[in-house]
Amino acid sequence: MNDNLDFGIKDKVAIVAGGGAVGHEIGNGRAASILLADAGAKVLVADKEELLAKNTFQMIKDRGGEAKYISGDLTKSEECKKVVDFAISNWGRLDILDNNIGIASKLSVVDEKEENWDHVMDVNLKPMFLMSKYAIPEMIRSGDGGSIVNISSISATRPKGLTTYSASKGAVLSLSQAMAVDHGVDGIRVNCILPGPVYTPMVYYPGMTKSHRSQRQDASLVQIEGDGWDIGKAVVYLCSNWARYITGHLLVVDGGCSLSVKPRG
Ligand SMILES: NC(=O)c1ccc[n+]([C@@H]2O[C@H](COP(=O)([O-])OP(=O)(O)OC[C@H]3O[C@@H](n4cnc5c(N)ncnc54)[C@H](O)[C@@H]3O)[C@@H](O)[C@H]2O)c1
Repeated sequence: MNDNLDFGIKDKVAIVAGGGAVGHEIGNGRAASILLADAGAKVLVADKEELLAKNTFQMIKDRGGEAKYISGDLTKSEECKKVVDFAISNWGRLDILDNNIGIASKLSVVDEKEENWDHVMDVNLKPMFLMSKYAIPEMIRSGDGGSIVNISSISATRPKGLTTYSASKGAVLSLSQAMAVDHGVDGIRVNCILPGPVYTPMVYYPGMTKSHRSQRQDASLVQIEGDGWDIGKAVVYLCSNWARYITGHLLVVDGGCSLSVKPRG
């Protein structure tokens, strides 16, 4: 076994937008933050909730990693610029951006309120657009290309009762591929992850019964209920040198949920 396998993440500077999670629980953004730091990146954890970002920062520090945290509502242009500037002023470069922010919405177009449609679209798309807008020029300036991962959902391609959410996550697919086309020439790879149902606090805090959990497990072809670590590992892979020939890719991480068909009878 070769202990010197180099994923090319050591000493890279990463921003995770939406890197907090409730308490000390593991959401997709917190898992990605921790695992990027484990792989040697300097990680700036950015979140609307300062305490949640700070908790992720502390968890990284406790594992011996290097991190900082910053709070801000990343639907706002000036806040996104502040996050990118903070990474540059601390570490002088930028290589990785994980655009993780997303909120759900459960209603059909008939029942959805117009204000909520606007809100979900705003939260699920604006931070990706704005963070990338400010991050890409810094990645180019840093001189080593870069890697951006946008978090979508299998709801983008297999909608199931989450109409506004599905529409917003569908837009994330196109945005990711368009960004990959625009910035490949700059050495910047842009990929997109479509998580299936993963057990994160955003999902289980509103309340989840045992039977709901076992339904989620049964939906997977491999009978596994995924968690934030599964998504974080996919983020690390896509940001690593091992994925240097992968861009514009839509990576489904769902244990086969989107292929499973309910048994007849
Ligand atoms: N959990 C799932 O089953 C699942 C499935 C498919 C896709 N996803 C996607 O994965 C991503 C992460 O989901 P999660 O459940 O792991 O959540 P998470 O635990 O990673 O939490 C998301 C974080 O984003 C932050 N945030 C929300 N709005 C923000 C804003 N305007 N500015 C800055 N920060 C903000 C929240 O405070 C929270 O800490 C989302 O995009 C979600 O849509 C999740």
